[in-house]
Amino acid sequence: MNYIFKKNCEDVDWNGVHGLLKRAGMAHPPAELIEKAFKNSYSVVFVYDDKRLIGTGRALSDGAYQAAVYDIAVEPSYQGKGLGRDIIDRLYDDIKECNIILYSRPGAEKFYEKFNFRRMLTGMALFKNKQSMMERGFTE
Ligand SMILES: CC(C)(COP(=O)(O)OP(=O)(O)OC[C@H]1O[C@@H](n2cnc3c(N)ncnc32)[C@H](O)[C@@H]1OP(=O)(O)O)[C@@H](O)C(=O)NCCC(=O)NCCS
Repeated sequence: MNYIFKKNCEDVDWNGVHGLLKRAGMAHPPAELIEKAFKNSYSVVFVYDDKRLIGTGRALSDGAYQAAVYDIAVEPSYQGKGLGRDIIDRLYDDIKECNIILYSRPGAEKFYEKFNFRRMLTGMALFKNKQSMMERGFTE
């Protein structure tokens, strides 16, 4: 299958990104916020099957030595075909000089272990929605 990988925000249907994040079980803020987040990111990846959006990913970075990865999501019916790996690889191309941090959705940690990510022992977070993040297994 020839999938299309796009690394810019031109002509992105932000409601479509919202829907994909929701179906993938990810946080899915309003489409306007998602648009702002992706447009302000250092690196973005969108995957299409023809015109259908089927995958996303983005990275924040200082462009020097620190980066953070967010919103890695593949449309459920397309999961398990290597697209998650393709998204990580394409983001990595832009931030390979950097330390890269992320927080996994509970249950997806082993996906990131495939790319040599290791658990942080001193990672700390101050989430806006503290109670929900605790209940969903992100914090103690
Ligand atoms: C996690 C996710 C992005 C992986 O994408 P994918 O296209 O299904 O994954 P790939 O087919 O590229 O898999 C790459 C490797 O990771 C493994 N893998 C994928 N998902 C995994 C999971 N949840 N747990 C353990 N291993 C996983 C695959 O078996 C494969 O291993 P291999 O290279 O040894 O064969 C996708 O399943 C998804 O969108 N899930 C819901 C949202 C989510 O959890 N996002 C990431 C966490 S924030």
